[in-house]
Amino acid sequence: MNKTLLDNIFPSEASIPEAYRLNERIDQHEYLIDGKLKIWKGEQSPVLSPLYMKTTNGYEPTIIGSTPLLTKEEALVALEAAVKAYDRGHGQWPAFTVSERIEFVEKFLAHMRLKRSEVVKLLMWEIGKSLKDSEKEFDRTCDYIVDTINELKATDRRSATFHNEQGIMAQIRRVPLGVVLCMGPYNYPLNETFSTLIPALIMGNTVVFKPAKYGVLLIKPLIEAFKDCFPPGVINIIYGKGRDTVGALMETGKIDVFAFIGTNKGANEIKRLHPKPHRLKAILGLDAKNPAIVLPDADLDNAVSECVMGSLSFNGQRCTALKILFVHKSIVEEFMKRFIAEVTKLKAGMPWDAGVSLTPLPEPGKTEYLKSLVEDAQANGAKVMNEGGGSINNSFFYPAVLYPVSDKMRVYYEEQFGPVIPIVPFDKVADTVNYVLDSNFGQQVSIFGKDTITIAGLIDAFATQVGRINLNAQCQRGPDIYPFNGRKDSAEGTLSVSDALRVFSIRTLVAAKGNDENKAIIGKIIRNRESSFLSTDYIF
Ligand code: G3H
Repeated sequence: MNKTLLDNIFPSEASIPEAYRLNERIDQHEYLIDGKLKIWKGEQSPVLSPLYMKTTNGYEPTIIGSTPLLTKEEALVALEAAVKAYDRGHGQWPAFTVSERIEFVEKFLAHMRLKRSEVVKLLMWEIGKSLKDSEKEFDRTCDYIVDTINELKATDRRSATFHNEQGIMAQIRRVPLGVVLCMGPYNYPLNETFSTLIPALIMGNTVVFKPAKYGVLLIKPLIEAFKDCFPPGVINIIYGKGRDTVGALMETGKIDVFAFIGTNKGANEIKRLHPKPHRLKAILGLDAKNPAIVLPDADLDNAVSECVMGSLSFNGQRCTALKILFVHKSIVEEFMKRFIAEVTKLKAGMPWDAGVSLTPLPEPGKTEYLKSLVEDAQANGAKVMNEGGGSINNSFFYPAVLYPVSDKMRVYYEEQFGPVIPIVPFDKVADTVNYVLDSNFGQQVSIFGKDTITIAGLIDAFATQVGRINLNAQCQRGPDIYPFNGRKDSAEGTLSVSDALRVFSIRTLVAAKGNDENKAIIGKIIRNRESSFLSTDYIF
């Protein structure tokens, strides 16, 4: 990237297209507890956009609004509301039938769809996600909710039947677990958060939801919908510093499920605060350092294009991003030539610019961190191979392609979660296997090649190490119907449309010896609709 382009990466306010301007600051004072929007009069936390503005004084950071800096007290009130609404499993929400709960979620979805443009605009301003990807995130989330509803209907139909094994008849149904603390990540503040929040709710749990650190204001357009569409206490939304709020919640021992997408360090710190860890179920999506392995016979055009997308979509800020590329020595020069040519074509700019790929980074201090990774690699023998790689303008970091990367460098181990692409030349396939075996992470891997013997050997070597092995394709979570998980420090539990319904519930069964007396009792309960659990009703 040349200096002129870098200097002009940020726009002047006047040059922003009208449709994407934030015309006024969004100072949010509301938070949701027990079905009521409370107004916070205390300290606010400023929301800083990664999109700097070009002014006559140079580049200036943009404060786009603020959110309530709640304290332990408000967090505990939110928890009590969720505890009350769950009422040890006897509250109205857990007691509703599946079809009743589906109606609430459908109503919420209809309200949510009306907020698309507001949420999309805030995704761009708060986390710098491109317009296209922001729209995709919103639409994917709506699709996820629709798929969840359909899956739950199918599960409910299956549960409406009776089993008969070894003379014992039984009906098995999924029931909720209790109170869920739900926290999402900044890179998918809507999609990843809702991929736990919605299944948790629809299964009959009650929730305390704390939006992500960045990408927090974008929940504001939805907060009214949450209030209007769910009974009081079923969903409570709090804001503030994690250590002031979340820690206090966990210490009460009243959180039954911890749904968290973030770092393993963060998850450990919060989890260990629960006084009875055996009573806490955790569903965690954590760190990853997914490698690509490019074998000598790989289709280079495909490998290059998948590796560019895999390492640089949303500037590499995806947990599934390719974070290290192992390329066989025999093709590494050609691979790199083509890889750099493709990286050079990526357009840098503001999220709303047509065809943009590279945008500013939302985490304060991130560009300095990435710079330190690059400098460490350079000090240990790697070079930045692409022109302008690693150039910085405030929150913008131009991708740095590093080569040759080795195990002496931090970038070999650390999850950069940003636009730094380490390329490691390898000779023996076993070296790539050892990298995965030795790694603290175990989310996914991508293999590029054609030789079936080599590929089969790698599949078998990785099958017990990672959650997904991608052939001739980048790593990714979707389609959301497929299981998404990881090993070691990368995850706990499996998510997918159907798995999420499972993890936020537990199977309970009513069982009886299949004698005439029991058959008569069960038959009467069902015929007279005396129980909502023991029932053969099902949703079409
Ligand atoms: O940040 C992690 C996301 O779950 C990745 O999802 O592969 O669809 O980008 P994605």
